[in-house]
Amino acid sequence: MNNAAVLKQGDFLSVGSDEFLESLKVNFEAPFHLMRALVPEMVKNNYGRVVNLSSGWGAFADGLTGPAAYSVTKAAINALTLSLSQAITATNVKVNSMCPGWVRTRMGGEGASRSPEEGAETVIWLATLEDDGPSGGFFRDKKLIDW
Ligand SMILES: NC(=O)c1ccc[n+]([C@@H]2O[C@H](COP(=O)([O-])OP(=O)(O)OC[C@H]3O[C@@H](n4cnc5c(N)ncnc54)[C@H](OP(=O)(O)O)[C@@H]3O)[C@@H](O)[C@H]2O)c1
Repeated sequence: MNNAAVLKQGDFLSVGSDEFLESLKVNFEAPFHLMRALVPEMVKNNYGRVVNLSSGWGAFADGLTGPAAYSVTKAAINALTLSLSQAITATNVKVNSMCPGWVRTRMGGEGASRSPEEGAETVIWLATLEDDGPSGGFFRDKKLIDW
């Protein structure tokens, strides 16, 4: 489960370059390295479940409406999900992206509509998928959503 992320405010012109690049490191580069390190062993064992914590703000279909660094890096991790899934179709290793909704965490704040437990439901489902479960998808509330 690639969960760690940072949310830096600002549109493309107002967010600092350092903040943008830090977002890339935490939200994209770290999951990239972790998947490169762990998935080959999963493939060898013919079992694995990778869950990438993304966001609706990273959906092109919704217009990438979040702060620039966040939306771009969440779109990028979605692209990683799809790209990796194409490399492992012949195996029982599955990789999916998901959006937890607006959750009462440090990032989401106290006014968010969902408890952490509610936010985690789809993560747990994807992390424990049966062998005939989906791979290469983007989910919220256990349902496919548009990239
Ligand atoms: N909350 C929401 O409403 C919401 C909505 C959509 C998507 N998401 C996604 O859900 C995931 C979890 O978010 P959250 O709401 O739990 O956010 P959070 O409350 O801000 O927690 C972020 C987590 O990422 C870790 N982290 C940040 N930078 C790190 C770094 N450089 N190295 C290691 N760990 C680092 C933090 O570790 P420390 O505690 O040690 O700082 C913390 O555990 C994220 O991917 C987020 O984008 C959240």
